[in-house]
Amino acid sequence: MTDAWSIIREHEKYRRTTLNLIPSENILSRRVLQALSTDLAGRYAARPEFYAGTRYFHELWNYSEELTRKLFNVEYVVLEALSGHIAAILVSYTFAKNKVLAAVEPSSGGYPGYCEDKIPDLIGARLVKLPTSREYLTPLVDASIEIIEKEKPELVVLGGSMILFPHPVRELSEIVHEYGGILAYDASHVLGLIAGKTFQDPIREGADIVYASTHKTFPGPQGAVIMTNNPEIYKILSSNTFHKLVDNIHLNRIAAYAVSLEEMLRWGEKYARKMIENAKSLGASLDKLGVPVKARDRGYTESHQIILDIPDEEARINVRNRLEEGGIIADAGVRFGTNEVTRRGMGKREMEKIAKLIYRLLEGEDPAKIKKEVKILTKKFQNIKYC
Ligand SMILES: Cc1ncc(COP(=O)(O)O)c(C=O)c1O
Repeated sequence: MTDAWSIIREHEKYRRTTLNLIPSENILSRRVLQALSTDLAGRYAARPEFYAGTRYFHELWNYSEELTRKLFNVEYVVLEALSGHIAAILVSYTFAKNKVLAAVEPSSGGYPGYCEDKIPDLIGARLVKLPTSREYLTPLVDASIEIIEKEKPELVVLGGSMILFPHPVRELSEIVHEYGGILAYDASHVLGLIAGKTFQDPIREGADIVYASTHKTFPGPQGAVIMTNNPEIYKILSSNTFHKLVDNIHLNRIAAYAVSLEEMLRWGEKYARKMIENAKSLGASLDKLGVPVKARDRGYTESHQIILDIPDEEARINVRNRLEEGGIIADAGVRFGTNEVTRRGMGKREMEKIAKLIYRLLEGEDPAKIKKEVKILTKKFQNIKYC
């Protein structure tokens, strides 16, 4: 008879012996994982405090905020949002409820949460889509300025789920600020790159708010962080947390996040540089084999992602399924992320190998044969680096 632990073990074995290229996932260090399964997992805490027994948690909470301020060079930090999506709702609800919200087109890499019938519907906002390049997945500056000047959205959100290059924060923030709007940057995918100082620095470029998941390129527990240098923004965001968007803030998550901050303060720059180097190298290797990769003329990427150029949705789903048959885990966007393979210690040579395995699968080679090769490859990379 089966039980919960036997299924958990099967899952762990499966993911240990397959190769993960999903750019929104990562593997956690043993110490981060251990922090998740401590006594904190069953406790409550709040601000202002209602519960007794929380003195050490408050120390941890303050410590996590302090390390976040240090790592990202920011003044104010909100850790209450339980995930990137909740952070997006918190920011959008606070600044665009029943108003106008502009975001990157989901069909060109923007976060699907900003489709009309999702967060905008939830908060009664009218959505303005920023015109975005389908090849590079970055908002088009002149066309975006034109639409922002016309619509004057109270909140403009840059950043996205498919992100290859920095977004034009500097170019758009001045226009948004001229009429009193707020510019937020959704760094869910690139938080680890920003921490490693290798991508863009949205706050320095003029963003009022940066919010992000803490578990994609940033190798922390599933959760979120919101940052700003503006005390008024901090005050109003904080006032919309407890008993509006959250109650329990998952204390073990904040403890684990503190441990991942310590790791990123020490190894973040090295890790981020290697993720980008690997992504470029995976893109080049696939391109060399004739697999269509977006943004070829710009070196494929400046982030942890590369994206296959397959316009048809059904074809993309087929590719995802085909890759999984061969032991390579991806998503139906056929965007590949180097976050996990880099953390396992892989480099240029392995990127070339992975590109060949993908090519052979797409060319119709027996997936069982490729799966065996994937197993051999992953066996050599079981130790987690940069921690
Ligand atoms: C750009 C972006 N924002 C927000 C989210 C939601 O994050 P979470 O899964 O932490 O709720 C995602 C999810 O992948 C994302 O890609």
